[in-house]
Amino acid sequence: MEQYAIKGGNPLVGEVEIGGAKNAALAILAASIMTDETVLIENVPDVRDTNVMMQAIESIGGIVEHLDRHTVRISGKSITDLVIEDDFIKKIRASYYLLGALLGKHKKAQVTLPGGCNIGLRPIDQHIKGFRALGADVRIEHGFIIAEAERLRGGHIYMDVVTVGATIDVMMAAVLAEGQTIIENAAKEPHVVDVANFLNSMGAVIRGAGTDVIRIKGVPKLHGTEYTIIPDQIEAGTFMFAAAVTKGDVTVKNVIPKHLESISAKLTEIGCEVEESDDAVRVVASKPLSHTHVKTLPYPGFPTDMQPQITVALGLSRGTSIVTESIFENRFKYVDELTRMGASIKVESNTAIIDGVSKYTGASISAPDLRAGAALVIAGLAAEGTTVIDDIKFIERGYEDFHIKLQNLGAQIERVNSERELQKFRLKTG
Ligand code: EPZ
Repeated sequence: MEQYAIKGGNPLVGEVEIGGAKNAALAILAASIMTDETVLIENVPDVRDTNVMMQAIESIGGIVEHLDRHTVRISGKSITDLVIEDDFIKKIRASYYLLGALLGKHKKAQVTLPGGCNIGLRPIDQHIKGFRALGADVRIEHGFIIAEAERLRGGHIYMDVVTVGATIDVMMAAVLAEGQTIIENAAKEPHVVDVANFLNSMGAVIRGAGTDVIRIKGVPKLHGTEYTIIPDQIEAGTFMFAAAVTKGDVTVKNVIPKHLESISAKLTEIGCEVEESDDAVRVVASKPLSHTHVKTLPYPGFPTDMQPQITVALGLSRGTSIVTESIFENRFKYVDELTRMGASIKVESNTAIIDGVSKYTGASISAPDLRAGAALVIAGLAAEGTTVIDDIKFIERGYEDFHIKLQNLGAQIERVNSERELQKFRLKTG
């Protein structure tokens, strides 16, 4: 079983290049099959989730060519099978994007109910409500969601909660519906805008993405395009917090600083210096970290996907901090693991009360999900002694070459495969 072995204590110093946004890529890959023409997508991160999505596209007859590690050419022309039933689709929550894409293009889709990171109940009622508003018949049978329509027609949808997934999914289907669709209380995350830009580059007419109200004028068909995915806001934020927690000095390159504002603001508040330039952000942590309070919120609020990383930092700050999780109800599972490393954190319902400690100590722990796993790696980088993290498959769902990028910043981290390799790491790092 693969593990990360980490010897903590080195401040991270240097530069790191951020890859394409995983969550934008998942939707854009799915949307690429909505035309019979070829689509070229650049800056696709080479992570497990995007690879599973491409396998899913191939499983229904789509053609995916890898031109290089981050560039793919996709053709959905030969897709005839509208049923996604392979086991691997259960592995990624974003399989629901194939529902919107296939329903839009073929007016029928059957997709396994989504799996994904176990971070709480993850209903899809808003997706279903949106498809129904477009005139589709949607039912759940034998573990599948089946959506079909004679014709899709524009509709008016008010999302009961701000949801990234449903906003994108319904937007995709609506692009090829007849007439105008209005999505109110839409999610405003950068990847919602990126998917809208991608679809517009294929001939869709979407206005207002990035605001609460998205207006879509249906078109009869989409055409091919070439598109570059935006940088990953959460990968960038993870490295920014890694700099803070290890008292380092890291320049995070190839980012859109505007997308990182809530993250930069919290880092400044807890005592880091954050310098922004056109496409980079430098985080310098030369002072002890101070406490703060934070609540996760839809964009432009502080992202839920950064909640474990900030909690790890606040666990080492002076004073008491409060972190409130308002998006997913089960996103503090990693706190038990962090407690094994010496953190003093009490979780009550959706709130963590954190009493800062002066240090973490290395321990054997498991990654409970993607972002929590990355946060525990950061904790290990700051800890005294060796930390061994199991279940790194979760981390590899969303971070490309995580340990290599960290090594390049001076971290002592290795991906080990056996007890022997772990012993070798222990001997090497002392
Ligand atoms: C996306 O999940 C991301 N996943 C998540 O990334 C991210 O944490 C989340 O958005 C929030 O930003 C992908 O993009 C593949 P939501 P998604 O729909 O779309 C409720 C990561 O680590 N809701 O915005 O599933 C839901 O329960 C991950 O990369 C409904 O009630 O999230 C939640 O409370 C994990 N009904 C809130 O909305 C619905 O039909 C936001 O969920 C849909 C959602």
